[in-house]
Amino acid sequence: MTAPTFTPRVFSGIQPSGGLHLGNYLGAIKRFVDMQNDGLSGQPIETIYCMVDLHAITVWQDPATLRRNTRELCAGFIASGIDPEKSVLINQSQVPEHAQLAWIFNCVARMGWMQRMTQWKDKAGKNTQNSSLGLFAYPALMAADILIYHATHVPVGEDQKQHLELTRDIAAKFNNDFGVDFFPMTEPVIEGAATRVMSLRDGTKKMSKSDTSDASRINMTDDADTIAKKIRKAKTDPEPLPETLEGLEGRPEARNLVNIYAALSDISAEAAMAQVGGQQFGQFKPMLADLAVAKLSPISAEMARLMEQPDEIDAILSRGAERAREISAPILRDVYEIVGMVR
Ligand code: AMP
Ligand code: TRP
Repeated sequence: MTAPTFTPRVFSGIQPSGGLHLGNYLGAIKRFVDMQNDGLSGQPIETIYCMVDLHAITVWQDPATLRRNTRELCAGFIASGIDPEKSVLINQSQVPEHAQLAWIFNCVARMGWMQRMTQWKDKAGKNTQNSSLGLFAYPALMAADILIYHATHVPVGEDQKQHLELTRDIAAKFNNDFGVDFFPMTEPVIEGAATRVMSLRDGTKKMSKSDTSDASRINMTDDADTIAKKIRKAKTDPEPLPETLEGLEGRPEARNLVNIYAALSDISAEAAMAQVGGQQFGQFKPMLADLAVAKLSPISAEMARLMEQPDEIDAILSRGAERAREISAPILRDVYEIVGMVR
């Protein structure tokens, strides 16, 4: 039997758990926009982008804040260039097939697989017994998000690689257990100069919304002054930038700022070094600050404007859910048929 070919389709998601930052923008959202506009290897491709509210509640969320964060994330997507006509833009809980397929995957995936996930270990810490069952099963829901659309390509930051490998394991085990060739082997798309944006205070730590120091990250809602100040104060070493990329070895803070510069300028890290190699930080940082302000402040202004129109955001999400279900409902029907549910 020849393996089925799957229509190329992009899916990715972000948790509406508050505080979109530069890492989310460069590692994920900006690349979602590129895939929407440029397709994959020059071919147009269908793109589905999701606010994963069911993932967010694996740790406690205040209901009113969750609702606000979901709308703010949607505003962030649109302000960054996701066009709800070109891409399908959805909120996860409005497409029930995600959770329905996740249950099936809870029965396919093994405890041992979940236990090996570094994000689980990081988030649960020593407190595994008191963590929610949902936090443990989180990667099975993520696999369902992707596979309920037979998505073939998933753009994410570096930290999601292990979850995408698990998604392939779940797809393969399902196919094998039921003797079908039903789910595709999804490809992670982890590309660009900023797949792992680091903290501005410590170049060995990922930029993250959970860092207690606000100076460690640039928030998408920061105003121009705050952005410039955080970059000016970013930790660096005393040496000027080296002439070549190799010279950044062992200098994580300098490397991080060069990567941010490259990603914001839409060029490779090599090309960035050709422009800024040899500069003192006193020269490089103000230039980077100007660039960051020029790229980010129109997005935060547009986010603020969209947040004044929550009804419009809600209408976009309802329409997105309808479009998404045209794809997800038939796939779920097939899954139930394969598994043996009487319909
Ligand atoms: P999260 O905020 O954890 O839901 O992440 C949403 C998306 O942003 C995922 O694709 C992550 O891989 C990506 N991401 C989060 N933090 C970073 C970072 N510091 N650098 C690059 N990508 C990131
Ligand atoms: N786990 C991802 C994160 O923390 C978010 C996510 C949920 C996701 N479902 C997804 C990403 C499906 C890509 C595809 O960033």
